[in-house]
This record gives sequence, structure tokens and C-alpha cells, in this order.
Amino acid sequence: MAAQGRQRILSGMRPSGRLHLGHLHGVLENWKRLQEEYQCFFFVADWHALTTNYEKPWTIPENIEDMVLDWLAAGIDPEKATLFVQSDIKEHAELQLLLSMITPVSWLERNPTYKEQQQQLKERDLATFGFLGYPVLQAADIIMYKANKVPVGVDQLPHVELTREITRRFNYLYREVFPVPDALLTEVPKLPGLDGRKMSKSYGNSIYLNDTEEQVAKRISTMVTDVERPRKSDPGDPEKRCVAFNLHKLYLPQERLDEIVAGCRAAEIGCVACKKELAAAVNAAMQPMRDRRRELAEQPGAVRRILEEGAEKARAVARNTMDEVREALFTEPPEPVEN
Ligand code: TRP
Ligand code: SF4
Repeated sequence: MAAQGRQRILSGMRPSGRLHLGHLHGVLENWKRLQEEYQCFFFVADWHALTTNYEKPWTIPENIEDMVLDWLAAGIDPEKATLFVQSDIKEHAELQLLLSMITPVSWLERNPTYKEQQQQLKERDLATFGFLGYPVLQAADIIMYKANKVPVGVDQLPHVELTREITRRFNYLYREVFPVPDALLTEVPKLPGLDGRKMSKSYGNSIYLNDTEEQVAKRISTMVTDVERPRKSDPGDPEKRCVAFNLHKLYLPQERLDEIVAGCRAAEIGCVACKKELAAAVNAAMQPMRDRRRELAEQPGAVRRILEEGAEKARAVARNTMDEVREALFTEPPEPVEN
């Protein structure tokens, strides 16, 4: 089917620095599948990063290319998907401004992430206009490209819901310019960090996409195993108590998993060997990523060029949309036809 006929997908990530296996399994693997079937726009939400990081804005740009390099290494393909940086498309700011005129403040104050994030990031003052308006900017990102589907995790569902409400209100007040987008909820396999908490940069419990083989092996060797199994002679229970086993389940074939479960319960295999085997499997799976990363590193400026080309494609779409938006707002609607 022609690219124009395919449904549109849009998703974005804030540039938070190095990505880890949680991002790979939770987001990037999903984007890779989607880029085969849909017309995809994936972008770096650097203005969104500014809403919480306005005190150190200079730390944002340096994270952008590193993150996109991780996307590319993971297999996001610029021939298939359009990759760009939000702040390269100034139209997002204009649409955000226009949408802000029709968005009731009460909708934004009701947004659960508004209060949650303020509590979590207590050391920062997030009682700002920009942070309250976070979902309005997100709505602009999404409808700018007339996206039909927005792949997100559960935490982002309230934002997509707000986008839908703002879109309906726009279409009702002015003209039917935008499709109302649907959230595409991403199924995320269980992937805890090394210590059993959620994998997160701030906990220092992650395996990073750009880790070397040695780093991966070392990190996995520190992974928490069955605490009721201090010695190899104690029988374990991988399914119930071993954090590492969640990774085994993602990286080893079922047959081998069955053997490990049996061996662990019978106190026949030890955790050191078991995690060495895991590290080898994770490293084997990461090899194509390392190869692509090396190829890209050999072409200086490659990431920047990909983002420039992506911005051109995105800008063409954004300009069209803004023409329609201005026409919808600033030209008088046609007389209703009597019949
Ligand atoms: N708010 C999203 C996040 O923190 C990032 C984001 C910004 C986004 N604009 C978007 C996601 C549009 C999907 C669609 O993860
Ligand atoms: Fe976990 Fe393997 Fe140790 Fe069993 S042997 S507790 S599955 S690491």
C-alpha cells in the first residue's frame, strides 16, 4: 500500500540520556514492529524535557544524539520511520499555543501526572505554566501529524486521553481537521533492574544498550538471585524468588528454562554458572546492536544527518497541518447549506 494510505503512528521520548534494556523491551521493540506496518513518526521530546529541567537546559541537547544512536542501534530504521527532534519543528509551539486557548485549566489540574511528578520531584519547583501545559504540548505533537495511534505505556494514558478531549473540542469549535487518536497500549514484559526494583537510571540498577560485553557480564553477576538460596546446596525457586530469572525468561529458549528450573529446584546448578549463561545469552542478543553502533560511529555526523532529513519530512507535514489549522480558525466557516 502507498505510504499515504497507511495509518499514522506517532510517539516520542524525552531525552533522558542512555537507554537501558527496559527501554528496549518496553518501547523500542514495539516501535520496530510498528515501523514495518505503519507510517511512523518517532521524535525526541526535548521541549518536554525542559518542563522539568528548566534550571539546567544546557544538559538537554547533549543527550539527544546519544539517545537517537540507541534507537538506531536497536534497529529503528530511518528509511522506514521519520525520526526528528521536537524543537526543530517550531510549528509544535504554534499549535501548542492555539490549543492552549481552548483547553480548560481544570482539565490540566485534574491530570494525575501533574500532581504525582510534583511530589516525586520535590526538589524542583514544578508549579509552572509550562509544566501544567505539558499535555497540551503533547496533544500538539500528536495531532500535528494527524496520528491515528499513539503507542505509550500506561503512565501516558491520561495524556492521550487529554489529547482526545482537546482534539474533539477543536473539531467541534472550528472544523473537523484532526482524527481523534487512539492510545496503543504497549504490553511490557516484566524486566526488573539488577536489584529487583524497576529498571531505572536513577536507581543505578540498569543494563545499558551501549554497555560492553564485559560490563554486561559484570552487571549480571551482581543481579539478585533467590535469597533463600545462600549456598548451591539449598534448593531454589526461580519463578517465585529469583530476580535474574526474569531476564532468563526473555533471553533463553523454553527448553533450557525448563532445565534451569528443574536444576535450581534440585540444587544441582549454582547461581554463578547460571548467571554466566544468562550473560552470554544477553550479549549474543546485543551483538547486532553493537555492530550497528560501530557502523554508525564510523560515519561521523550520521545521526545528525538522519535527524536533519527527518526534520525536513516532519516539517513538510507540520506546515500543511498549520495551514489547515489557521484556515479553520481565521476564515469564517461556510454558510450551512439548507435543504
Ligand atoms: N510524555 C511522553 C513521555 O514522557 C513523551 C511524549 C511527548 C510523547 N510527546 C509525546 C509520547 C507524544 C507520545 C506522543 O514518555
Ligand atoms: Fe536464579 Fe539460576 Fe540461581 Fe536459580 S540457579 S536462583 S534460577 S540464578
